[in-house]
Amino acid sequence: NEIKIFSPATVANVACGFDVLGFCLDSVGDEMVIRKVDKKGVKITKIEGFDLPFESQLNVAGVSALAMYDAVKPDFGFEIEIHKNIKPGSGIGSSAASAVGSVFGMNELLGRPFSKTELTQFAIKGEALASKCEHADNLAPAVFGGFTLVKSLSPLEILQIPSPPNLYATIIYPQIEIKTSESRAILPKEVKLQDAITQWANFGSLIHSLHTDNYELMQKSLHDVIIEPYRSKLIPHYYEVKNEALNAGALGSGISGSGPSVFSLCEGIKAANNVRDAIEKVYSKTGIEFDIYVSRINTEGIKVL
Ligand code: HSE
Repeated sequence: NEIKIFSPATVANVACGFDVLGFCLDSVGDEMVIRKVDKKGVKITKIEGFDLPFESQLNVAGVSALAMYDAVKPDFGFEIEIHKNIKPGSGIGSSAASAVGSVFGMNELLGRPFSKTELTQFAIKGEALASKCEHADNLAPAVFGGFTLVKSLSPLEILQIPSPPNLYATIIYPQIEIKTSESRAILPKEVKLQDAITQWANFGSLIHSLHTDNYELMQKSLHDVIIEPYRSKLIPHYYEVKNEALNAGALGSGISGSGPSVFSLCEGIKAANNVRDAIEKVYSKTGIEFDIYVSRINTEGIKVL
């Protein structure tokens, strides 16, 4: 009647795939306990790690849980414990991990009536509370693992994209908070046709490179000419990090989700460690506190512990 789960961090956008592409990390994630109880309703009983609201309607995990609860209308209730390791506003899908965790755990306790796409659909409601806009590019990789492409939000359609086996990510998190809602508000409503052409050429070839394990093509495709010029201004020393990563052998770098984390994709663990060391060296000089780590691409996604 109780289940403990690991809900992973994720990188959304992946340079040219704003709001549609994402991948799943395996070295960072939240732990959550979901419990079946007699008393009807959804109650958050414990939150550790960060200060977040306990009221279900104000909590991302609570809102997605309520969406599923209202669909099932069971004659019992659920309690949720959240052990948060992913800092809210860090750009690696903190709200998505919470939103997905509650519904994944409830689904397990209910005997798995819902598909992964349906779980993502419930979780969109929770995610929307945090970012004030519905998007699933962090939710889908957390649920499915690996790389995912949100083909359409309505109806929700998710494609799983293969992850080349030797692909690693280096993530630096400069310790400032950027709210997704705010970093969405600074984006332009319209884009130039020439920029759109460049972006979809890169996006198509990035997807092709993931299908064909073509690291050279991946390197040529990991560019973002639409979002990065705006959001890079919010991240201190962004271009220094990026240049350092590319010089140290990264295939490409970009803003992770809405920032401030910056991801670099690398071929092999050795390259990923080199990139980590190089970025660490330059960022140590900025006086800004940061975390930096290397992660494998997590092809499993959210799981029972
Ligand atoms: N695609 C979303 C954005 C992800 O960039 O605003 C937010 O984590």
